[in-house]
Amino acid sequence: MPNHTLISQCRKDFPILKREVNGYPLAYLDNAATTQKPKSVIDAITNFYENHNSNVSRGVYTLAEEATEIYESGRDAVANFIGAEDSGTIIFTSGTTESIKLVSSAWGQKNLKKGDRIILTEMEHHSNIVPWQLAAKSYGIELVYWPVTTEGRLDLALLEELLTNSVKLLAFTMVSNVLGCINPVEQITEIAHSHGVPVLVDSAQAVSRMSIKVSEWDCDFLAFSGHKVYGPTGIGVLYAKKERLEEMLPFQGGGGMIRHVEKQSSTWAVPPQKFEAGTPPVAQVPGLKAALEYLKQYGIKQIERHDNELTEHALNQLTEFPDLELYGPSEIQNRTGVVSFNLQNVHSHDVAQVLDESGIALRAGHHCTQVLHERLGVPATVRMSFGIYNDPSEIDRMFSALDQARAIFLH
Ligand SMILES: Cc1ncc(COP(=O)(O)O)c(C=O)c1O
Repeated sequence: MPNHTLISQCRKDFPILKREVNGYPLAYLDNAATTQKPKSVIDAITNFYENHNSNVSRGVYTLAEEATEIYESGRDAVANFIGAEDSGTIIFTSGTTESIKLVSSAWGQKNLKKGDRIILTEMEHHSNIVPWQLAAKSYGIELVYWPVTTEGRLDLALLEELLTNSVKLLAFTMVSNVLGCINPVEQITEIAHSHGVPVLVDSAQAVSRMSIKVSEWDCDFLAFSGHKVYGPTGIGVLYAKKERLEEMLPFQGGGGMIRHVEKQSSTWAVPPQKFEAGTPPVAQVPGLKAALEYLKQYGIKQIERHDNELTEHALNQLTEFPDLELYGPSEIQNRTGVVSFNLQNVHSHDVAQVLDESGIALRAGHHCTQVLHERLGVPATVRMSFGIYNDPSEIDRMFSALDQARAIFLH
């Protein structure tokens, strides 16, 4: 299917794309923050509440059994989508942030001690930095940063130097939510494993754009959020290898994660339930499953190609303007549709505000990556990020509206 068919077919699936903003058709270019939801996802959630709503893994009545079956079939769908051999390795969380927190806490408690080190990259989102800073305070560990090159990539040769004996984990993003670069997970994992170091992959920006193969890549942990893959908010996934799950202590205590509770102590359910205390995101699971089915319907290869075409279209125009500074690789290889830039001498928030007046939604600020922005030497950037429904004409509209920003602020 050629990609213009993808756009014309899928745009009608997203009710929100029919609306106007400030008298213009909405051009939604903030997909790295969250994606819009197709009707099938909205319907799956409504259908759950209208026909099957109950808590899971508790009741023996029909509705409870249906809800449990729906919930567990969502787990199977996630495992299948990310290439995990066993759905018991999939834990439902509230999002990427909680997935990483779960590892820093449940795995950290068991495996980290004073003097140990964890490697992070300078391009991490705060949700893959701050939990480790909290862990550093609790366990006395040190955080070591793998630097970002001037082209906005990671240098694999440098990693070898950082992997000393005291390193206990490498936690890195698969796709930067600012630079748009794709980090080679399989190669990085192989290098880390050759030094006996497990890896955590933050795939929040990757799952909607490219195929994920956790078992083939052999990564130890992988985290993502439902709302960034056209699914609902309030649900995320942590994949963890079986042996990692077995060595982890519980994350939170409460209903659903125990085998037996006595006055002074308890024993735990087996994973993944051991890590899903309390009422999980029940209605969000069918929503997430519908989102993954939606992506499969168009095919991840075609989605990836579409994303590449939009990225190339944006990069070609961006590099034409001498007053636009691009942050991240300017070549298309190993790059995705997250494109950050600044208009010289204009604050990114002012740019975003002017663009909003033309119905263009994009993000300005530090994008929860202050360490990276410090490395880039700017406090904030403007970021466009593409989704499956975006059209090259929306990018053209963004560049035309930038002319207005120039006219307002620079004359
Ligand atoms: C690379 C990356 N990691 C983690 C997150 C955090 O995701 P969430 O807020 O859904 O937990 C984001 C969100 O923008 C992200 O881009």
